[in-house]
Amino acid sequence: MTKKKVLVTGGAGFIGGNFVQYMVEKYPNYDIYNLDSLTYAGDLTKHRNIETIENYHFINADIANHDVIIPIFENYKFDYVIHFAAESHVDRSISDPGVFIHTNVLGTQVLLEASRQVGVTKFVHVSTDEVYGELDFDPTSYFTEDTPLQPNSPYSASKASSDLLVQAYHETYGLPINITRCSNNYGPYHFPEKLIPLTISRVLNNQNIPIYGDGKNVRDWLHVFDHCSAIDLVMHDGRNGEVYNIGGHNEKTNLEVVKTIVRSLGKSESLIEFVKDRLGHDKRYAIDPSKLAQLGWKPTYTFETGIAQTIQWYLDNKEWWEQIISGEYQSYFEKQYSI
Ligand code: NAD
Ligand code: DAU
Repeated sequence: MTKKKVLVTGGAGFIGGNFVQYMVEKYPNYDIYNLDSLTYAGDLTKHRNIETIENYHFINADIANHDVIIPIFENYKFDYVIHFAAESHVDRSISDPGVFIHTNVLGTQVLLEASRQVGVTKFVHVSTDEVYGELDFDPTSYFTEDTPLQPNSPYSASKASSDLLVQAYHETYGLPINITRCSNNYGPYHFPEKLIPLTISRVLNNQNIPIYGDGKNVRDWLHVFDHCSAIDLVMHDGRNGEVYNIGGHNEKTNLEVVKTIVRSLGKSESLIEFVKDRLGHDKRYAIDPSKLAQLGWKPTYTFETGIAQTIQWYLDNKEWWEQIISGEYQSYFEKQYSI
């Protein structure tokens, strides 16, 4: 029997990287192709443990380069495309939106076109709950798959645009697709520009932690391993054309998250510093994951078990995040914050 070929775009990044590891281990009978252009967020050292494994392959390419992507698809004839590659940081989209359109919008369209031309079995588009905009603080309100798209940042607007293109390729050309919309992830190899890894790395270095505004904005946190198992399920069992929200009912204010980390590491809350708010800062995200639960998915981590695992991972893997924060990232941080 021929092996199934699975293309994972953005597999050198945080979630795509965890997904590549998950797939290589769980499906030795599949060939896993990690396609990534290795931007500031891409890093292959996380795959040292699998780089000699027979069913793992790496392709260095920009998803928005039509002339490169089409021949790659013609050559490999992938069965599945699991599309993670993106510019993913909201703050960077506020200071430099153009690259978000290049990768998130044009890049997705190029992949859709290539997938249509070779006739893939399924295109799974990894989107985000941010396409729904924001909720108020009423704890009984949730994003469902029927919530209208109302993105507020250049990042979420670019992701919503890509979602619409995916739906258009399904309706117009009959491309088999699923769209997943997950809440905030955390876990191993999370780039230290995002709230949780930024907080852990700064606390460990006894540096101040910048909290935007009053710290009362709410995010709904999911451990990245649970996101991986959800995508595995959608990829194999998701109904063609459907959208699935992914979340584990772990709503926390940013202040609660930061205080939990500071306390777990035995440091003082005086490290917390309130700074200027993010422009257009969404108040609250909260996912209703019941549609995916009906497909048989449930998360394995609570926020408490997940954050403990994550903090321990950052303690054990200091070399990885220290190498990142000492590079280009340092000047990004200085530009972004005045602390
Ligand atoms: P990330 O920034 O950590 O990784 C993105 C990866 O994409 C990097 O390896 C980068 O090199 C690669 N990439 C960027 N531009 C590319 C291009 N033009 N061509 C090829 N590769 C390119 O992102 P992440 O946090 O792992 O997010 C992955 C996906 O999941 C994104 O689509 C994001 O919108 C979505 N998502 C993220 C979260 C979250 O909390 N991080 C939650 C829900 C959904
Ligand atoms: O909801 C899913 C989204 O979650 C993904 O689509 C995005 O790719 C991912 O980056 C994430 O977006 P957020 O903007 O919610 O994540 P971030 O870690 O940047 O911020 C989380 C919250 O913490 C947000 O309310 C802003 C706040 N924050 C963030 C940083 C970096 C701070 O208060 N201080 C900070 O320094």
